[in-house]
Amino acid sequence: MLVEKVLYMKKGNGHTSYATNSLLQRTVTAKAGPVIEESTREVYITLKPECLMMADMGCSSGQNALQVVSRIIDVVDKASRNLNRQCPQFGVFLNDLPGNDFNTLFNLLPSFNQELEEAKGSSFGPCFVPGTPKSFYGRVFPDKFLHFVHSTYCLHWLSQVPSGLVNENGEPLNKGNICVAKTSPLGVYKAYNAQFKRDFTLFLRSRSREMVFGGHMVLIFLGSFNSDDPDSLVELLGSTLHDMVLKGVIEQENLDKFNIPFYNPTVEEVRQLVKAETSFAINKLETFAIDWSVDSSQDLETQAKFAAKSLRVVTESLLETTFTHAVMDDLFLLFETRIKERIAVKKGEYLNIVLSVTKKE
Ligand SMILES: C[S@@+](CC[C@H](N)C(=O)[O-])C[C@H]1O[C@@H](n2cnc3c(N)ncnc32)[C@H](O)[C@@H]1O
Repeated sequence: MLVEKVLYMKKGNGHTSYATNSLLQRTVTAKAGPVIEESTREVYITLKPECLMMADMGCSSGQNALQVVSRIIDVVDKASRNLNRQCPQFGVFLNDLPGNDFNTLFNLLPSFNQELEEAKGSSFGPCFVPGTPKSFYGRVFPDKFLHFVHSTYCLHWLSQVPSGLVNENGEPLNKGNICVAKTSPLGVYKAYNAQFKRDFTLFLRSRSREMVFGGHMVLIFLGSFNSDDPDSLVELLGSTLHDMVLKGVIEQENLDKFNIPFYNPTVEEVRQLVKAETSFAINKLETFAIDWSVDSSQDLETQAKFAAKSLRVVTESLLETTFTHAVMDDLFLLFETRIKERIAVKKGEYLNIVLSVTKKE
């Protein structure tokens, strides 16, 4: 399964869309806000570009991307005032896969530009905001083009489901699971781990060519304490699919051959890969946890609904490559119940990795 052909977040603005159901990602970006701000400030103060070129890799379709861009622009605007310099122009490149709903995002641009102009005055900018529909696993921009790169909740998505998830007789190895899970054989973990290494290294190598010396990059993505047993919500979705098999709603064979291109590395794996690739110096590599429901003070039912919905909007396009659209409502209803049962006995949390790096000379 090649991700760029099949992965897209639920389109549009409706109540089941990604745009309406991405509070989790927005909250995570906000929590990493101080790292993004510090990084941007340093880029501007050291490089003082006349036009600051930045990219949001994996921008998706709602307001999240523009919120982070706004935050970055605020920092640069303030820093330029402090230095008594003219605020730079901005090139803001919104990158995602070609199947992304760029229209929903671009429809927000007129009000985004108007608000900027009103807040900052007519001498500000201008700010140019094109889209770049292409996989970030490979080149997207010309050489030495970008000063700042940001990405939230993307790099745990692999470029493809790893090959090698079948045995020598062609039988599926990861039976009953859809990602690295407690009951997955070691070969499954090894295949996912190798795919992540290849993809993450390619991402770094590509950005390294595209960034200027001294440019900064802040990457926020899902990780785990043990990448061979990540205890993730996706694993629970896999066991809910297994329940659907037991109920006779979906075929065992379909579940056995279905896997999600999703991997949660440990911080140490990330550190090793950045070091091995050699183009970037690590400024910060830290983690923070966030509840599956973002707000664990709510009742269990509300928490479970939120967690199920936020995973549905990101995984439905992948699930529908193998399971029919008709089973989705029942699957996610049962998933809600399973989440509720799980969080009643043990808290469910995402581990977020925040990596800030500088492009070396
Ligand atoms: C969960 S969304 C996060 C979106 C946004 N950054 C946010 O914080 O709301 C993940 C995004 O990564 C994109 N993505 C995944 N793999 C990608 C790739 N190889 N190249 C570009 N975008 C990718 C998906 O299409 C999706 O829009």
